[in-house]
Amino acid sequence: PKEKGWLGSYAYNYQGFWVPQKFLQAVIAFQQQFQAQDSDIILVTTPKSGTTWLKSLLFALVNRVKHPILEPNHPLLIDNPHVLVPFLEHTLYFDGRTDDISTFTSPRLLATHVPFASLPKSVHVSKSKLVYLCRNPRDTFISMWHFTNSLLPDHKEADSIEEMFNLFCKGVSLYGPFWNHVLDYWKKSIENPNKILFLMYEEIKKKPKIQLKRLAEFLECPFSIEEENSGVVDDILNMCSFDNLSNLEVNRNGKFSTGEAYKVFFRRGEIGDWKNYFTIEMCNKLNHIVEEKFQGSGLKFSYV
Ligand code: A3P
Repeated sequence: PKEKGWLGSYAYNYQGFWVPQKFLQAVIAFQQQFQAQDSDIILVTTPKSGTTWLKSLLFALVNRVKHPILEPNHPLLIDNPHVLVPFLEHTLYFDGRTDDISTFTSPRLLATHVPFASLPKSVHVSKSKLVYLCRNPRDTFISMWHFTNSLLPDHKEADSIEEMFNLFCKGVSLYGPFWNHVLDYWKKSIENPNKILFLMYEEIKKKPKIQLKRLAEFLECPFSIEEENSGVVDDILNMCSFDNLSNLEVNRNGKFSTGEAYKVFFRRGEIGDWKNYFTIEMCNKLNHIVEEKFQGSGLKFSYV
């Protein structure tokens, strides 16, 4: 089954989630070929929930001994976070690529949008760790709408906000249904807190230090007292801030080898932009779905 829509292409319902046709083969290759290592750290997100930000935080945090944060040619100052923490299906397994990722230095920092139930078996059986990030569905949707309709240079036929919103509510969105994606990881993170850390964009925005320390503890690389006293936590947060990253030359003018500009991953970087687009009807419709889907789960989104 397919739906016409975003990315000027088709979405296929594969194993119950919507995957852009362009990435379907790569998702399958990832599922069939990827051998997780115990030391792997895999970032999982719903698209447009702040993946770029968390990739940068993760890279800075895990590599802080090898690459001290204030060094002038820190990799994050000269490369885009998506290059430093590549997507399995969008990059490493895309288009029949044969990069030998078993040779990456450990711990390997990798990323995916694939839902929990469709992850390769080796991820489940290994001691690899999953860091999950989501964002409130209103801001995620608005960010996705901008991303697909305004930011991609070759997008010919923009979807109206209403069209895309109706699809989103039906569960048709990048790697959606959104609710299934979030709920599965949420439940698994409760069952297995040493395997999955569940983070929310809004919480990182509001209490960045607490969330970064949570991440460091989960990854078993907590900040020492000396590091805390010398301001490393703040240094990481400042380096990875929206203002800093989005103004770097590499992120303003750099491109992927496929030609897509890095700048498409930086737009506003705030909570609450949905207010500039959502009608009361849209809020009501989405609230209704969210209430029904997340009822009893204990998960609450923050919209401001
Ligand atoms: P907006 O479109 O709301 O601005 P992803 O990285 O998952 O594709 O998500 C992109 C969203 O994260 C965009 O949201 C983008 O602006 C925001 N973003 C990118 N870098 C960020 C940062 N360092 N801090 C906060 N938000 C960031």
